[in-house]
Amino acid sequence: MKTTLLLAGIFLVGIFLPGLVTSQKCNCPPNECCSKYGYCGTGDAYCGKDCRRGPCSLPAPTNNADVSSIVTSAFFNGIVAKSVGNCPGRSFYTRDVFLKVIGDYPHFGRSGSIADSKREIAAFFAHVTHETGYFCHIEEINGPSKAREYCNTTITQYPCNPNKGYYGRGPIQLSWNYNYGEAGENLGFDGLNNPEIVAKDQVVSFKTALWFWMDKCHWDFASGKGFSATIRAINQKECDNGNPGAVTSRIGYYRDYCNQFGVETGTNLRC
Ligand SMILES: *[C@@H]1O[C@H](CO)[C@@H](O)[C@H](O)[C@H]1NC(C)=O
Repeated sequence: MKTTLLLAGIFLVGIFLPGLVTSQKCNCPPNECCSKYGYCGTGDAYCGKDCRRGPCSLPAPTNNADVSSIVTSAFFNGIVAKSVGNCPGRSFYTRDVFLKVIGDYPHFGRSGSIADSKREIAAFFAHVTHETGYFCHIEEINGPSKAREYCNTTITQYPCNPNKGYYGRGPIQLSWNYNYGEAGENLGFDGLNNPEIVAKDQVVSFKTALWFWMDKCHWDFASGKGFSATIRAINQKECDNGNPGAVTSRIGYYRDYCNQFGVETGTNLRC
């Protein structure tokens, strides 16, 4: 009797678990939205501001800032100029590619006032500067030797391919199996089996940075949580158990870029 119940239990779990896992992965029907937490549904909770995929109805951008006139050639190339001449990122990360990619992200740098737009753009480039060393690095230094460190096996919906390394790549240095998996699902590439594309295709590479920013930083920043919230979203470890030097470095770039754009930094810088 007990055995029968146990078997029935296992059988039921076997039936219901795949359904749950599927909905969490957000393979939604075409008319449903994937929420921030990875569930399918309709209405504001799914399709509103935290909507990740599907027929999202994001609130309209609140200003019409022309990002290209803020991110001028002088600004962009001024960052690149601080890397050394033989850096691989110098020809890979270009302003043209950046401007092309933001066409897909109409909310980037367009929330609040024009000064808020400039702060958001300053924040994005501050992190990119820190992550890549002034657009020098396409891949994390010694990344391949750290490949194992970036596989979190408890996140079973994004199983690691044992032959692939999910170390930092691209402007925001996308890392970890789950971020590659999620970025790939959103941008249309196989993040788990082809993470290398983020270091090979300039457009995909910038898209991973903009996707990450919009998904994990933009709305917090737009709601006034300050630069500190973006540090936490990008590298929580730096905030929690300490890399105060890295935090200081990020804030330094942010101050510099706010200054170049002629805006105040706002409060809440340190995480
Ligand atoms: C792996 O992910 C789990 C679940 O999100 C988390 O609790 C854990 O801290 C992660 N482990 C590492 C090494 O990041």
